[in-house]
Amino acid sequence: MANVTLTIDGQKVTVPEGTTILKAAEKAGVKIPTLCFLEHVGLRHIKHDVGACRVCVVEVEGKKDLVSSCNTPVEEGMVIRTHTPKVIAARKLNLEMMLSDHHLDCPTCPKNGICELQAICAELNVRQIRPQGEKKDFPIDDSSPSIMRNPNKCILCQRCITACKVLQTVDALELYGNGFDAVVRPKGGLPLIETQCVACGQCALVCPTAAIVEKDDTWKVWEAIADPNKHVVVQTAPATHVTIGEAFGLPVGTDITGKMVAALKRLGFDAVFDTNWSADLTIMEEGYELIHRIKNNGVLPQFTSCSPGWIKFVEEFYPDLIPHISSCKSPQQMLGPIAKTYYAEKKGINPENIFVVSIMPCTAKKYEAARPEMNAASKYWNNPNITRDVDVVLTSRELIRMIREAGIDFANLPDEKYDPIMGEGTGAAQIFGATGGVMEAALRTAYEVVTGKTLPRLDFEDVRGMKDIKEASVNMNGVTVKVLVAHSLGAARQLMDKIRAGELKDYHFIEIMACPGGCIGGGGQPIPTTVEERELRIKGIYERDKKLPIRKSHENPEIQAIYKEFLKEPLGHKSHQLLHTHYTPRGKK
Ligand code: SF4
Ligand code: SF4
Ligand code: SF4
Ligand code: FES
Repeated sequence: MANVTLTIDGQKVTVPEGTTILKAAEKAGVKIPTLCFLEHVGLRHIKHDVGACRVCVVEVEGKKDLVSSCNTPVEEGMVIRTHTPKVIAARKLNLEMMLSDHHLDCPTCPKNGICELQAICAELNVRQIRPQGEKKDFPIDDSSPSIMRNPNKCILCQRCITACKVLQTVDALELYGNGFDAVVRPKGGLPLIETQCVACGQCALVCPTAAIVEKDDTWKVWEAIADPNKHVVVQTAPATHVTIGEAFGLPVGTDITGKMVAALKRLGFDAVFDTNWSADLTIMEEGYELIHRIKNNGVLPQFTSCSPGWIKFVEEFYPDLIPHISSCKSPQQMLGPIAKTYYAEKKGINPENIFVVSIMPCTAKKYEAARPEMNAASKYWNNPNITRDVDVVLTSRELIRMIREAGIDFANLPDEKYDPIMGEGTGAAQIFGATGGVMEAALRTAYEVVTGKTLPRLDFEDVRGMKDIKEASVNMNGVTVKVLVAHSLGAARQLMDKIRAGELKDYHFIEIMACPGGCIGGGGQPIPTTVEERELRIKGIYERDKKLPIRKSHENPEIQAIYKEFLKEPLGHKSHQLLHTHYTPRGKK
């Protein structure tokens, strides 16, 4: 590729042909502000450069109009100026135009403090809003249990559309109408819940404003904690162990497990449990299910079932492939019914009074917990007063808000320990938080169960990392077990199309996580969640795995105890009653 030389703010810079002015400026050490532009939404090179905000405009010598730098390629000999009075005035006016019809209630806005629109107005010293226009008046869409849409705060950057369509291939959102009436909305103008949206929250991660955010359920938890009749237990997902600290100034990927437990105890929860414990339980059930399918000519490849966005994706787009999905519930939905049965019995607590809260990296977990079939404890006790197995799901971002509300000095908390019975998790469970982790954890257990031998090496490096599709094979007593791992629904779709076409028949087990990087990149995680953040969080996950004393699910003493005292055996009667589920073909609306 030929090179192009141009001048930016008096500096000569040479870049390959086709480079944008924005990137050339970066190379010259010149920062041009952007708002709608987004690169690397996820793991693949996804470039969103629709040129909607015009905050990145620059002056090009010889051109009458300013040009947007994020999507204009360089030309030989170009002379560019990035902060002339004309450029600065245009950027400010563009922002003022955006603010003129925006519902500007920053102090009470869910994005206050982490809003890119707010931040860029501060950066560009916007101190007034000269154009005074009519305010937008679109209805707020709170139909989804996971995502809240407020189109009155939308700046039409369309990042959400790219995340949904290109990264996730769900394509649930559209730009509709023109001018003042233009709106980004669920396809066909339907409420979000009535579309094929899988509730993954990747749109919320990239939305620069509060136009798409997670549903806030923190007040339900405050009320439950304050209710003397309720025994409120909380569980924390594997990925939260290395992400919550970011919001309190700790380096990305720091293991904050002990501090998180301490914070939850200070918030007033009666017992603090670890979803890592039920991730180990999931491995027992899912691993045995896989062995059973292999031995009995069951439907293969078996798909993992921990990611609720992925499950809805199969139900919506590939209902014919539902029999491939493991019948195991996700770790969140395993801990819920066990808290209201086994734990209730052991502690002598009326299960009606047990209130289960989950801290999850994922917005789709809110949807999952609300699925009508997730009421196994109610069926177990034949008691309609027990409703859902998991009463409230909070995302990482919501827990962060509760910790701030309570005035807890998170970064300086001492480390505390989870409560017993459902508080011990292994390294295998910890790696559930990263793409490839469920697969690796399953192999650590399946290998030892099938061969009766100790694994020579615990680390399955082939299934780790940000490559979108990864594979590995393991010999177990003469059978070569072949596995695949994919993350992001775009990558999942590639695999699903092949399976539908009759390919990949010789694979046994496929792990899919709806979010890029796995749960560490979940739609409920701290913002920003860039590729760099995802990689550092993954590093933190594997570091924690390495330092844990037990690294295989079947060696977890609390898991051994529940089988001995309550469940008896994996895939047994009680397991089926409490830990397994079914799926629902949904298809296009
Ligand atoms: S979206 Fe940003 S600019 Fe708009 S009200 Fe919220 S915090 Fe303020
Ligand atoms: S939650 Fe996921 S599927 Fe739903 S609109 Fe957002 S990106 Fe699309
Ligand atoms: S909802 Fe958010 S991401 Fe989507 S167009 Fe509006 S401001 Fe941009
Ligand atoms: S960042 Fe270039 S037009 Fe918005």
